[in-house]
Amino acid sequence: MGLLEIEGLNKAFGSLTVTRNVSLSVPSGRKHVIIGPNGAGKTSLIHQIGGQLQPDSGRILIDGAEVGKLGPEGRARLGLARTFQKNTLFPKLSVHENVRLGAQARFGSPFDLFRPARRSTELDDRAASLLARFGLDHLAQAPAGSISYGDQRQLELAVALSGEPRILLLDEPTSGLSPTETKALVGVIRSLPDDLAILMIEHDMEVVFSLADRITVLYYGEVLAEGTPEEVTANARVQEVYLGAGI
Ligand SMILES: Nc1ncnc2c1ncn2[C@@H]1O[C@H](COP(=O)(O)OP(=O)(O)O)[C@@H](O)[C@H]1O
Ligand SMILES: [Mg+2]
Repeated sequence: MGLLEIEGLNKAFGSLTVTRNVSLSVPSGRKHVIIGPNGAGKTSLIHQIGGQLQPDSGRILIDGAEVGKLGPEGRARLGLARTFQKNTLFPKLSVHENVRLGAQARFGSPFDLFRPARRSTELDDRAASLLARFGLDHLAQAPAGSISYGDQRQLELAVALSGEPRILLLDEPTSGLSPTETKALVGVIRSLPDDLAILMIEHDMEVVFSLADRITVLYYGEVLAEGTPEEVTANARVQEVYLGAGI
């Protein structure tokens, strides 16, 4: 069984079905990429996994435990972290403070009985080492809103990783980036811990093929194809419906 397991998920907004009987499995260490045209239901799927949106039916399991009606915080405690398609940084706080807050949200609360609060210096050290890993240490004291868009997207990833997740959900992490910034971000994603399970939405095919171990193609809320990059590109339905549409 995968670290992240989705079974027969369904979701509709009124008469619009955005998720139809979607199943997928992401074991520890795998990079699984979701592709599909605009409006295919990719973001809605990630919202359901992250706890931002309740599915109508189906199951989501993290390490064998059904997440049910757990909110985003409860899922974070099970090891899930995510970034959003749109920027969610605190623009007036420093780069360092943004990462530190991420770590604090996960490890710093004295009300979490299952994890002793980490000491303040420990949180600062963790934030500093993450920023160094991302090559953002020279910007540590700058307000997050003042750094370049490419650096902001890397910072979002650093914030997501600050809680030491086992599963990372990324919604179009390279959107809006220049080719150089995209390359840098791909390098960072490649350098993440080997055992981290990653489920990411990506529209840049070069990025998809340089990162994906497996690909799921979503089309009108349904899984059109799932497999290795080679299997998916050789799939006649994918060629006809998805690649043939020139998307
Ligand atoms: N909260 C919502 N209420 C109604 N319709 C929505 C809502 N969120 C998304 N949709 C619609 O659901 C469909 C899938 O959207 P989305 O999951 O964002 O697709 P993708 O990320 O693949 O582009 C789109 O037609 C979108 O307009
Ligand atoms: Mg989307």
